[in-house]
Amino acid sequence: MNYTKLEDTACALVAAGKGILAADESFPTIQKRFAAINIESTEENRRAYRELLFTTRGIEEFISGVILFDETIGQKTGDGTLFTDALSRKGIIPGIKVDAGTMPLPGHPGEKITSGLDGLRERLNGYRDRGARFAKWRAVIAIGPHLPSRACIQANAHQLALYAALTQEAEMVPIVEPEVLMDGDHDMTRCEEATETALSAVFAALRDYGVALEGMLLKPNMVVAGTKSPKQASVVETAEATIRTLRRTVPAAVHGIVFLSGGQGPELATGHLNAMNVRGPHPWELSFSFGRALQNAALKAWKGAAANVAAAQREFHHRAQCCGAARYGTYSDKMEKMAA
Ligand code: 13P
Repeated sequence: MNYTKLEDTACALVAAGKGILAADESFPTIQKRFAAINIESTEENRRAYRELLFTTRGIEEFISGVILFDETIGQKTGDGTLFTDALSRKGIIPGIKVDAGTMPLPGHPGEKITSGLDGLRERLNGYRDRGARFAKWRAVIAIGPHLPSRACIQANAHQLALYAALTQEAEMVPIVEPEVLMDGDHDMTRCEEATETALSAVFAALRDYGVALEGMLLKPNMVVAGTKSPKQASVVETAEATIRTLRRTVPAAVHGIVFLSGGQGPELATGHLNAMNVRGPHPWELSFSFGRALQNAALKAWKGAAANVAAAQREFHHRAQCCGAARYGTYSDKMEKMAA
């Protein structure tokens, strides 16, 4: 196995000032995002929207890689160029979501397991041949009065490790995503405990399966209070709790940690990342792999109309630039307020 190639890709994905755009929304998820702005989720609307994002000028200064969805990896820009080629020409690395969404964990109400291991080896080889150089698998962990259960933590950790081992076998970099959800009224301490438990289990399983830590990236949640919690944590509290949790659980052999935004607003997600990097240096690069936090403003500006593409691209560029600054800890309110 060519670990050097994997390590080079992992490092390129967390290059200075850059992070990942998650544009791998599944059919149900993109439908939900489009419904919020009254757009029908047709194949052409999905293609046009992704083209808008991927062809934004100058985005390669802040975006190292893009996570695509199965449909998207076969789509083209208006001039007939495959998205994978258009991205590669800009120096942006194409990646692919390979999980098939979540389903209920049997016997564990309120908990989920991820689908998609059947046939994964063949699918990974197919995606690699179509230009993908990294993959993503998302596991979700809910917090509740008696959750997460040990079964949920263990089952998801083993799935993530098996996926990661298969992805490295296919000579692609696995992004390992155990997401502790923000849903609920729990405080930040509960999130910290659940995140520490989940990450400890994930790294124990990765070791059992022989995954090369230098050739993978971790995509965790930040440690935040539940969305319905009356006790929201400050930016500094979140930054410090997240760093503490990562230091306790993530080996220094991992080159980069690329956070999901998980429903945090764009400015808050950027502010949290910035606050963490202000507190650096850390044993790993702390970067982003945001979906909603990078896209929300652009989606709202676009509204499905060709006439709004330039305005939407300005929004996307602005947000990516702010996230890029947060990689150095130089993001500020002043920068945020600069006209998009
Ligand atoms: P969000 O940043 O919207 O949470 O999406 C990231 C992602 O890829 C979830 O799997």
